[in-house]
Amino acid sequence: MDSILVTGGAELRGEIPIAGAKNACLTLMPATLLTDDPLTLTNAPRLSDIRTMTVLLQSLGAEVSALQDGRVLAMSSHDLNSDRADYDIVRKMRASILVLGPLLARHGHAVVSLPGGCAIGARPVDLHLKGLEALGAQLELKDGYVHASAPGGLRGGVVEFPFVSVGATENVLMAATLTKGTSVLKNAAREPEIVDLARCLRAMGAQIEGEGTDTIEVQGVDALHGATHPVVTDRIELGTYMLAPAITGGEVECLGGKLELVAAFAERLDAAGIHVEETSRGLKVARKNGRVSAVDVETAPFPGFPTDLQAQMMALLCTAQGTSVLEEKIFENRFMHAPELMRMGAEIDVHGGTATVTGVERLKGAPVMATDLRASVSLILAGLAAEGETLVNRVYHLDRGYERVEEKLSACGARIERVQGQ
Ligand code: UD1
Repeated sequence: MDSILVTGGAELRGEIPIAGAKNACLTLMPATLLTDDPLTLTNAPRLSDIRTMTVLLQSLGAEVSALQDGRVLAMSSHDLNSDRADYDIVRKMRASILVLGPLLARHGHAVVSLPGGCAIGARPVDLHLKGLEALGAQLELKDGYVHASAPGGLRGGVVEFPFVSVGATENVLMAATLTKGTSVLKNAAREPEIVDLARCLRAMGAQIEGEGTDTIEVQGVDALHGATHPVVTDRIELGTYMLAPAITGGEVECLGGKLELVAAFAERLDAAGIHVEETSRGLKVARKNGRVSAVDVETAPFPGFPTDLQAQMMALLCTAQGTSVLEEKIFENRFMHAPELMRMGAEIDVHGGTATVTGVERLKGAPVMATDLRASVSLILAGLAAEGETLVNRVYHLDRGYERVEEKLSACGARIERVQGQ
């Protein structure tokens, strides 16, 4: 298994191109199941999670071709030959559950394994299932699989989510496009990835209003058609690379970045003493002189501070002046990076969903273990700021969500290399 070796201490200067959003692409790809016509995604990120979704769609009989070095995904579902998403593929990635709504809406039946994914607490799919039931689906859980059917087709309905779920909103939104009648999704997620999905579905002929607010209304149509859609910028990759010069010092322009994608996060950076400026090409981030200041962080659904940037922000705050309190409100057990950061000399006290971080002058390089996708990149960020060498082991998580991280960072002067596993 590969590792990443980081030698800390170098200031970063330069430009980093930000890719299309993994999480948007993972919900846009299953949208191909809703139509016979071709769906083409441009600005796709080149990641192992995208390959996993490709394999899953192909296992259903969809055609998926990665063109232009993986930047373009040309898909067609005119000849689906299976409605069963097998455990062997689904267990690798939780987002696999997103094929359930589209398959059910198009074919009236689907059998989908219950998912696995990052080990960040119990992550049930009950909201996905309840939402689809509200559209008339009949569901049965048997042998680890969801057996779903809607013999007469799905119908419109009111879905009121008890709390915000990105994936459940996406699954129900896709299914609702092909129902008879009108559906209303209340307490829907407002993430940019939902807005992107709604735009793509609308380009395919769906009738949707209200995306980006907490109430989305969908007027079902008989059929959707093909479209070409550019994947929105990855706000989590953007935020991660914004933290790189913040943690090392220097100045980096994140190409393609927009403030509206990361407003709450950028506000916290500003409070910590980091300069963020929107330019015509992206977001320019610079650290003013001296150490950053401690700030408190509370994760929340969009437009709040994203849980997917909590681990990386913690890496920054490990060297801040003062004590920061980080509250994780979305996932239980999402502080697995804390003990690894402590191996590098960080002072962190975790109690339930709260981590108290007392900044130290300098972290020290150490061998550490990546436990999930965002944790792995937080350890790389910490390594960039640390004295000496940090070897981040088990980086397969990293490749799920960050394309060519070592290339992007070394182009700005970071000393970072991949060490091939045996
Ligand atoms: C998506 C993102 C993930 C991000 C998360 C929150 C993708 C592929 N992944 O995950 O990177 O961290 O949003 O921004 O887009 N929950 C339930 N029942 C459900 C569904 C969710 O209890 O049926 C809980 C989850 O355990 C979690 C919370 O709801 O505590 C929010 O999860 P959700 O928004 O659904 O996250 P995902 O869509 O899985």
